[in-house]
Amino acid sequence: ALLGAALTGLSLVCSVRGAVGGPSNYSFPDGFMFGVATAAYQIEGAWNEDGKGESMWDTFLHKHPDYTPDRSNADVAADSYHKYMDDVAMIKDLGVEYYRLSISWPRLLPNGTDNNISKAGVRYYRKLIKELQSANITPVVTLFHWDLPTPLMDLGGWANPIMVNYFRDYARVAFNLFGDVVKIWTTMNEPHQHCYNGYGSDYFAPAIKSHGVGEYLCIHYILLAHAAAYHLYDQEFRPNQKGKVGITLDAFWAKPKNNSKPEDIEAAERYLQMHVGLFAHPIYSKEGDYPDIARKRVDSISLHEGYTRSRLPTFSPEEVNALRGSSDFFGLNHYTTFLMSPSSWEKTWLIPSLDSDTGVKLEQDAKWIKPGAEWFSIYPQGFRKLINWVTNQYGKEIPIIITENGMSDFGGINDYLRVSYYNEYMAQMLMAIYEDGCNVQGYFAWTLMDDFEWKDGYVSKFGLYYVDFDSPEKTRTPKQSAINYREIVRTRRINF
Ligand code: NOJ
Repeated sequence: ALLGAALTGLSLVCSVRGAVGGPSNYSFPDGFMFGVATAAYQIEGAWNEDGKGESMWDTFLHKHPDYTPDRSNADVAADSYHKYMDDVAMIKDLGVEYYRLSISWPRLLPNGTDNNISKAGVRYYRKLIKELQSANITPVVTLFHWDLPTPLMDLGGWANPIMVNYFRDYARVAFNLFGDVVKIWTTMNEPHQHCYNGYGSDYFAPAIKSHGVGEYLCIHYILLAHAAAYHLYDQEFRPNQKGKVGITLDAFWAKPKNNSKPEDIEAAERYLQMHVGLFAHPIYSKEGDYPDIARKRVDSISLHEGYTRSRLPTFSPEEVNALRGSSDFFGLNHYTTFLMSPSSWEKTWLIPSLDSDTGVKLEQDAKWIKPGAEWFSIYPQGFRKLINWVTNQYGKEIPIIITENGMSDFGGINDYLRVSYYNEYMAQMLMAIYEDGCNVQGYFAWTLMDDFEWKDGYVSKFGLYYVDFDSPEKTRTPKQSAINYREIVRTRRINF
């Protein structure tokens, strides 16, 4: 809405072409990318087959079987290591043209470094990519979807600056091996979730629990590693391979708890700056670097009397430059909305952390439908607001690709709530495109099939296909939401 006069023209043109009479009549723009997404650890299984190295998730879950409510891990998962042909057939059946998958770093480099490239690992991803190619499906590849090789975790993982170089080495191997076919890369998946939950707390592996310190180290070196991979691609691969490299960030929409309270409005904005801006500002803003407010907030709380040096690391001017503009698109993952109000850090449930540094209290409205996971409520309007927020912050020049969106439930194939979730959320996205002029170029449903959902094991389900995890074949069955998505893709409209 705040995009200014230049955009009004654009949205008018779009409205006339695509869309008279609201989202049920909007058709998706020409060239809009439809896809589905998955991640290696959540589906592949074969955790130690053919010389694959251990990832820190393997190690963590073998050590802590009680971590998940169903005492599960992803040793077998949906067995996609063996059933990738079925997966590709399912994607083809959905009619989507793009598949976002991730490479398991320790499957490709068993000890994490490029001094040992696994032949079996190379073979697996080659076969998968080839299968996709022959089905006319374009791969979009995530380099890091959380499954860090355990030997690198033993070095301190992302809290150690040495990781910037290891990640660059890994990226070089991947670009070299697969870049002839793979033209869209995302370096990191949801660094906010990974760092905050894994280093700042113990909600995710590696459960470092270094509140208010570990998450900032992780964020800092993940960002630098992303920039290193981007520039590596630019210098060594882009001239021949001509692909795109971006990053995938996650964002809840932050809705002021009470819209007439300025302090709630401020809290919501603060949240977005600290949780999205912290990553996006260094990469996509004109100024670069962490947003000022982040440093101000972090520095306003010291863990111990007299300790005045910042817990938020500092980028050198060269690093600010390397990060600025280091992404060809904005990969955005969105699921749900939280209501925001201020809170002072003494009162929050954790000692200093990224959340308490932000000084917000997160709640959800009891009136919103809660179909599954504890953190999940349905509030479709938040999606449009978020897309507009990103556009207003970083400009409409940067293409937004929705790299994940989907719904959690505990059910089976008659997932009518998921059908309406997809319809409503995509309708909000179309309004952001046509009515607000936002530059959204693609949409990836999370996820192709039920999988290992981290903290929630196999209990919380996001799949378009139901997976019978009790069957040795890990039988896949399309849910209603798969049929609905196929119709959307076929007609290029939402069919309410
Ligand atoms: C985002 C993560 O990238 C993905 O791994 C996870 O399964 C979904 N959110 C759902 O929680």
